[in-house]
Formats: sequence, structure tokens, C-alpha cells
Amino acid sequence: MLAGTNGQGKTNLVEAVGYLSTLGSHRVTGDAALIRAGEESAIIRATVVAGGRESLAEVQVNRAGPNRAQLNRKPVRPREITRTVSSVLFAPEDLAIVRGEPSARRRFLDELLVARSPRLTGVLGDYDKALRQRNGLLKASRGRFGPDPASLDAWDERLVAAGAEWLDARDALVADLAPLVAEQYRLVAGADQQVGMHTVRGIDPEEGGPADGTTAERFLAALQTARQREVERGVTLVGPHRDDLLLTVNGLPARGYASHGESWSLALALRLGAVELLRGTLPSGDPIVILDDVFAELDEARRTRLATQVGRYEQVLITAAVEGDIPGPLHRHVTRIQAGTVLP
Ligand SMILES: Nc1ncnc2c1ncn2[C@@H]1O[C@H](COP(=O)(O)OP(=O)(O)OP(=O)(O)O)[C@@H](O)[C@H]1O
Ligand SMILES: [Mg+2]
Repeated sequence: MLAGTNGQGKTNLVEAVGYLSTLGSHRVTGDAALIRAGEESAIIRATVVAGGRESLAEVQVNRAGPNRAQLNRKPVRPREITRTVSSVLFAPEDLAIVRGEPSARRRFLDELLVARSPRLTGVLGDYDKALRQRNGLLKASRGRFGPDPASLDAWDERLVAAGAEWLDARDALVADLAPLVAEQYRLVAGADQQVGMHTVRGIDPEEGGPADGTTAERFLAALQTARQREVERGVTLVGPHRDDLLLTVNGLPARGYASHGESWSLALALRLGAVELLRGTLPSGDPIVILDDVFAELDEARRTRLATQVGRYEQVLITAAVEGDIPGPLHRHVTRIQAGTVLP
């Protein structure tokens, strides 16, 4: 447990651990806010023990220029660091997965996808590149005769090659994750409510896509159907970058229907489901489970159930502004934080 009053640096510390496993912050997009105001860079340095082996992981986050990383004092690509540290972080911002825009749900899924199969980083990168080029082409020729169909066809092919793999991986992920999330929701909320999740995709028949074929064939067909609209609007309208994840509680969409407490429990269940999914599958061992400011939001019964649930994990970091909010069994190691430093 990391204890300290508001604004002392608890989130800062757990964010640094999270950064080592994702190379990003859960709070902000971009790294600028992670570097102390007035400084040019920030350094995260951690001793990581996994599978009985100890290593020193270091990342330098730079305001200008690319980040640098070292593993056991040897320069490595920053991506390498994420293979040595895995974490799942839950924070108040995660309410956006349930209540926010589709992009928050895509980001949740895609971070988990990459954590599960790092190889997919390349696929997602290829897709983004093809998408940017394709959008550039659509935008540049907007309002004129439209782009040269042959060039557009070429980009379609590249978009579909990476996109189909991404869509299939997402489907497989959602299929594996759904029962785990439903179970975690029951365990934490203690309520007999059915949680459901499934993808909503522009290439699906109910969204106007074709009814059969492989994912790649259906994606390509959906692009062809959308082409006229895309040419008019100057942007790519179907693909994994536009899809959504529908979350339901007792058959009703969580976004719009679920109460604050239910939304909170569902967001937590999504993260705990992710922990269950990653456990035992990662070379770096069980993920470090991070719960930032969670307990204050939960009622007494939910606090106790959550404490039991996370008590099974190898390493759990919990932050609290009010120590009394944390159930007794989780008080085993208390670290106090004040004005940005760990008190002895
Ligand atoms: N880039 C930055 N440069 C300088 N100070 C910063 C920067 N980013 C955040 N801070 C400050 O660091 C302090 C610690 O923030 P942090 O979010 O870690 O607090 P916390 O202990 O989690 O508090 P709370 O209990 O309110 O969540 C805050 O006062 C914040 O304003
Ligand atoms: Mg905080």
C-alpha cells in the first residue's frame, strides 16, 4: 500500500511502474506531462524480479527526441523493457472505458492485445501507417474527381492485410476475456448480474457489411461499399480503428444505463479480467496489479470482496489517501509518500 495525502506523488509512482510495461501513461496521451515542469527529461529506474531473475530496467523519457532505454546497463529499444515488466493498472480514468467514447474501449482492448502478443505491435503499426496514407490520399483529392482508383485499391490491400489480422486477434481476445470479466464482476459486485461484451464492427452484416467470407474478404467488401462515402468525406470509415465494444449489464448497454457504482464495478471487472487473462501466459510472470484510488469509491462489502480477490495476486500496489479505506488484510506493507519522496 502506498499511503499519503492528496498530491504527494502516489499516482506518480504507480504511473512510472505502468509506464515500464506499456510505454505510456494511463492519465495523459503523450509524455510531456510526465516530465517534471522545467526539466528536459525524466528517468524511470526499476529493479525487476521475475521468474527468480533480477534485472535493472531504465527508461529515459525525453521532451525532445526519442526515448532511450537500458536493460542491465546495456542500451535496448524501449519496447524491450515492456517484455520484462507487465502490469495492469486500474485508476479512476478507467470509468471512461464504460462511459466514454469508443476510442477508450478500443484502447483498452488493444493495450491488452499487445500485452498478450507483443508481435501484434508491428501489425497495429502497419495498419496505422496504411490508414494515414489512405486518409491522406482521400483528403487530398476531396471535392475534386476523387483519388485515382488504382492507388486507392493498393492502399485497401495494405489496410486489409494488417486490419484483418487485427480484427481476428481482437475477436479472439473478446471471446477469451468476456467470461473472465463476467466472473470478476460477480465476485466484486457480489450481484447476480449478467455482464456481456461483444464487438460492434463496421464490417459485420448488422452494420451493413457482407454476410460471408473470411475477415479479409469481408473487410475489403465493406471498404468497397463505403468507398463512395469515403471519397465524399475524405476519410476511411470502416476498419478496426472505427469499431466499438458493446458492454452490457443484464442485457442493457452499460453506457447510458449502468449506475455510477455499476459502471465503476464494471470498469474494475474489465481490468481484473485482464489480469486473469494475462496470468500464467507471460514470460515476465504474473502482471503487477495496480489499484490507484479504488477503495474510496466502493462500499464496505465491495471493499472486502475486492481485497479477497486481489489478495491472491503475486504483487499488488494500492494507493490510498485515507488508509482506513483499505481493508485490514492489505495493510501488510505500508509505504508512506510525502512531497514526492518515499519516507523511510
Ligand atoms: N510534470 C509535472 N511537473 C511537476 N509537478 C507535477 C507534474 N505532474 C504532476 N505534478 C504534481 O505532482 C504532485 C503529485 O501528484 P500525484 O498525482 O502523484 O499525487 P497523488 O499522491 O496521487 O494524489 P491524490 O491522492 O490526490 O491522487 C501533484 O502536486 C502534481 O500537481
Ligand atoms: Mg493519485
